[in-house]
This record gives sequence, C-alpha cells and structure tokens, in this order.
Amino acid sequence: MTDLAIETTGLVKVFGDNRAVDGVDLRVPAGTVYGVLGPNGAGKTTTVRMLATLLRPDGGEARVFGKDVQKDADAVRSRVSLTGQYASVDEDLTGTENLVLLARLLGHAKPAARDRAAQLLEAFGLREAAGKQVKNYSGGMRRRIDIAASILNTPDLLFLDEPTTGLDPRSRNQVWDIVRAVVSQGTTVLLTTQYLDEADHLASRIAVIDHGKVIAEGTKGELKASVGSGAVHLRLRDADQRPAAERVLAEALGAEVLLDPDPVALTARVNGRGSERGAAEQAAHALAELARSGITVDNFALGQPSLDEVFLALTDKKGEAA
Ligand SMILES: Nc1ncnc2c1ncn2[C@@H]1O[C@H](COP(=O)(O)OP(=O)(O)O)[C@@H](O)[C@H]1O
Ligand SMILES: [Mg+2]
Repeated sequence: MTDLAIETTGLVKVFGDNRAVDGVDLRVPAGTVYGVLGPNGAGKTTTVRMLATLLRPDGGEARVFGKDVQKDADAVRSRVSLTGQYASVDEDLTGTENLVLLARLLGHAKPAARDRAAQLLEAFGLREAAGKQVKNYSGGMRRRIDIAASILNTPDLLFLDEPTTGLDPRSRNQVWDIVRAVVSQGTTVLLTTQYLDEADHLASRIAVIDHGKVIAEGTKGELKASVGSGAVHLRLRDADQRPAAERVLAEALGAEVLLDPDPVALTARVNGRGSERGAAEQAAHALAELARSGITVDNFALGQPSLDEVFLALTDKKGEAA
C-alpha cells in the first residue's frame, strides 16, 4: 500500500450559497507532485487552505499524513508549508534578510539561519539578488524567494498554489526546476495550476477540478486516453479546398473538425476506441478519403491529444450531462 500524503473524502466549503468546494475526494501518494488543475474560481485555493488548516471545512474529512486537519491541526501544521498568496516575505527586506529572519523564527540559531539562507539563495539562482530589497525583484525572482521561504525547514508536504501564474516562460522553467528539486528531496508537492502544460510537465497524477468538483483524476496518460487516443493535424496545399476537406474529414472520422487560424490547417480528434493502432487506422482511412476527393495534403501529423483538448472534452461532457 502506498503512503498517502493527503486523503480527503467529500470535502466541502460553502461561502454563503456558493459551494466553492463541493464534495472533493483526493488521494495524493507521498513523494510525488500531484497536480490540481482547474480554471479561475474552480475551488483550488479553498481546497489548499483547508488542507493547510487555514480554513475550516463545512463537510467531509481531510487527512494529511493520516492526521485529521481539524482534530489534529497542530500535527498537520508541523509537516506542511504553503506558498502562494499568503507568503510571509517582507518587501522592504533583502532576500538574505527575509530568509535569515524566517529561519530564526523557525528556531534556527543565527549561524545555521545564515547558512540555510545562503544555500537556498544559491540554489534558487538568487545569489546576486540576495542583497536587494524584495520589492525590486522581478516576478520570477519573487516566486522563487517565496518558495525558498516556504522550504527553510524542509516540509514533508508543500502546497504550491499557482506558483507560475503570470510568469514569463523562462521564469516558469526556473520554478519548474525548483519544484523538481524539492520533490527529489522527498517532499510531496501539491501543485495547483490553471496551465495544462504545467501539470503535464510536473505532475505524476492530476485531478481536474471545476465548480468545486473533481471531474477527472488519473495519470496524464489515463486522462488523455479517456478522451480518445489522438488528433490529426493537416495542412492543405490550397486554402480553397479547406471547406471540402472539413466535410470529408468529419465524415471519415465521425468527429468534430477544428479550423486553425492558419487558413490551410485543420485539426480533428480521432477516437480509435482508446487504442493507438485504431487511431492510426482511422487517420489512414481519412487520408485516403481526402485523396479520393482530389484534396492535396501537404503535411499530416497524428499526435496525442494535448491536456488542453482533454480539458475541453471533459468540460464538454459535463455540459452534456447537466
Ligand atoms: N473568502 C471567501 N469568501 C467568499 N467567497 C470566496 C472566498 N474565497 C473564495 N471564494 C469563492 O469560492 C470559489 C472558489 O474560489 P477559489 O478557491 O479561490 O478558486 P481558485 O483558487 O480555483 O481560483 C469562487 O467562486 C470564489 O469567489
Ligand atoms: Mg486560487
């Protein structure tokens, strides 16, 4: 049996008549990055705050390393750390001053606090910025110092609440490297994100949440397989042939065809009934039909669905059920 860092059953939080978290079940294996993926307002932060003992649940149960977040809140607090909107970094202090101060508050003696601060600033690429006030940091540097502050004492479980929202690609990559380094030290990470590619890159398992409910859960492979095994991307020689190509593809694949912004490009989902071979056969059939209709295809690719397509498909399904 795997050790669980987090286990929730029917977790609920209500604000007025808004069920912000509406019966969430999560099982997060220890030692992994677990992604909670969902759009703005899905209930990610509210879930994290309940797990971090900052907010009282209105229903259900939540355990962190086996300890109940309400009955054993102190035991939970001793093992978790949270980075996000509520980080405790002081804008007027320098990077070093912040980390040393926080380390002292956590009970480190002065030399140990200085050592730990220097070590983290170095590891997070902030050595040169160490003597600057945090208010002069870029967005990416600010996220990195926030994470550094939250792992001064290596926590067993780290909550990273949208650690890369609003960052440029290079800064995102730096944060991703840090997340990988933190996990390699044995810390379990619960990462919330609105970015499908972020969950794809970092997380071993992902829960997709929307309107306070988990609408899908699994490994990336499982989530992708749940919506079919791929998508075909086509480029035509002649943009005038696109309407005809759209009809032929829709007929041959029995799937919706998306028209790309590029006037010669189209994308269609292939179902393949969950198997890659099935998808390849369907794609081959579609190509043959296009050739038969006199449509010239310059370029063709069969790819896995992106998590974006997965998310759209899942929220579509939910729409149909409602
Ligand atoms: N303190 C609060 N008081 C009232 N409503 C809140 C509060 N915090 C969050 N909400 C509402 O709960 C829902 C979920 O919010 P949140 O957990 O912040 O979502 P996410 O982090 O996924 O963007 C939203 O509708 C939000 O407006
Ligand atoms: Mg949030």
